[in-house]
Amino acid sequence: MHFLITAGGTREYIDTVRFISNASSGKMGYALAAAAIKAGHKATLISASDLQPPVGANFIGVDSTGEMFTVVKKRFPKCDCLIMVAAVSDYTPVKKSKTKIKKTKKNLTIRLKPTVDILAWAGKHKNERRATSDGPRLVVGFALEDKAVRAGAEKKLKEKNLDVIIANTPAEIGSDSAAVQIKMPGRKWLKLPRAAKTQIAKKIIELLAC
Ligand code: CTP
Repeated sequence: MHFLITAGGTREYIDTVRFISNASSGKMGYALAAAAIKAGHKATLISASDLQPPVGANFIGVDSTGEMFTVVKKRFPKCDCLIMVAAVSDYTPVKKSKTKIKKTKKNLTIRLKPTVDILAWAGKHKNERRATSDGPRLVVGFALEDKAVRAGAEKKLKEKNLDVIIANTPAEIGSDSAAVQIKMPGRKWLKLPRAAKTQIAKKIIELLAC
């Protein structure tokens, strides 16, 4: 299978040196790419993280949500499974200053506008013909929820027309281990107890490839 995987927290630039981002490390996405390669699959990793790419991955570095969307759209037709692990920024500055913003004594307001939902776009287009082979293309999301974890994740599964949603909590951010819960439409929740992200990634790839 050819896995298209996104990782890291996108960076939305305010001016030439400052950006809005989040605490995502990219470790889970990188572990998934490494696990896919180890299991004999192809992996394209679209990353907003500074981690060293896994050997054998087709690596594309990006900064912003807009850039990530452009690359996902380009690569989507050739993938068998998209896994959106990236912590995509939901907002981006309305205007990026072409020069470094100088400090003054006044309050500073930055106006933000919503970004495109990349995963929802993929959910809408997943049944379009694949460039490489026939058969269904899987679209997998990660849901980061700090309360009502299952309800929030199931809402995303349905609203974004996904095949699989993997729920996690802020406790996993930056950690080398993770505990996740996995849901597919019409199936029961599957719990993967806390383990190294490399182990969790191996199990997820096995599940998606079967
Ligand atoms: N996602 C995306 N594009 C966005 C926002 C999120 O593709 N603009 C993807 C993420 O990569 C993840 C999934 O959607 O796979 C869920 O992301 P999450 O941050 O948990 O939820 P949101 O949809 O952003 O909703 P909210 O922040 O309100 O929980």
